[in-house]
Amino acid sequence: MSELAGKLEDLERRFVDAAAQAVDERALDAVRVAYLGRSGEVTTLRRSIGQLPASERPDAGKVINAAVERMEQQLDRAGSQIENRVFEEELAQEIDVTFPSIEPATGSIHPVRRVLRDASAYFERHGFAVVLGPEVEPDYYNFDALNIPPTHPAREGFDSFFITNTLLLRPHTSPMQIRTMQQHQPPIAVVAPGRCYRRDAVDARHLFQFHQVEGLLVAEGIHFGHLKGMLTGLCRELFGSSQTVRFRPSYFPFTEPSAEVDTTCPKCGGSSASCNMCGGSGWIELGGSGMVHPNVLHEVGYEPERYSGWAFGFGVERLGLARYEVDDIRRFVNSDADFLAQLS
Ligand code: DAH
Repeated sequence: MSELAGKLEDLERRFVDAAAQAVDERALDAVRVAYLGRSGEVTTLRRSIGQLPASERPDAGKVINAAVERMEQQLDRAGSQIENRVFEEELAQEIDVTFPSIEPATGSIHPVRRVLRDASAYFERHGFAVVLGPEVEPDYYNFDALNIPPTHPAREGFDSFFITNTLLLRPHTSPMQIRTMQQHQPPIAVVAPGRCYRRDAVDARHLFQFHQVEGLLVAEGIHFGHLKGMLTGLCRELFGSSQTVRFRPSYFPFTEPSAEVDTTCPKCGGSSASCNMCGGSGWIELGGSGMVHPNVLHEVGYEPERYSGWAFGFGVERLGLARYEVDDIRRFVNSDADFLAQLS
């Protein structure tokens, strides 16, 4: 019995050393197998109990069991020490839990989109339908049907990109007037936002690809006052409640009378002679408008004696310049995401 006790003591001591030296879970597991496994040292020792006198065997069993229990506790402790150390090492190496998380980048609505959306929403609230049409149009829709026959000098004013002799990138959204009136009988009220193209040299005020928003209302008894009311409302919607609108006599083949539309400078309100937004005039040009020409109504089969209507076409980037007090139209298209996000 004392011989067994001695062996057990030696075994336990070696076990404690081995467990303490195990650097990771795999090494610890090897220690477990070597001492407590099915063919490990403890099993060998247990087998030797059979050689002891019968009276000593129960005690020998108890002593071994107690030792095994201590050894198992020792394994658990060593195991959790290893786990803690590995965790600490990982933390130290690659995870700084105090590090701020990375915010996902979110986009913003482009200022030109925003103006288009707000203008369309204003007209929709007043019962207008939003209509979209092709950017490549026959000259019939761009010119002829709008009272600009082939020899008309106004064609020269629209420096267009031609695809064939008769097909071109639309230089304005006015073709949508014709398309709408051909498809529907009066009364009609539509707003047509979209892209337009002109052979213009790019500078602070011009792009060769830009947007317009077109409006058209045709019914019985429509007069210029209706146009003035709607456009005043549009400017207040886009620029603020104290805006006013001014009409300057002008000429467009598809309207009679025709007018160019200005709104009070949103930057200086007309109060600064040195304002760089309006050049001191106090007014910002928005685009053209007028009463739909009888020839245009006639072309689409409407009776000019019975129906009258107004129309307008504004440059959306121009509206954007005024609304966001931007000094150069190119800033809308040069993909400076930070600049664009700032406006929204
Ligand atoms: N389409 C014209 C242009 O691009 C603008 C315009 C003027 C549109 C008068 C209209 C209008 O609807 O009535 O220069």
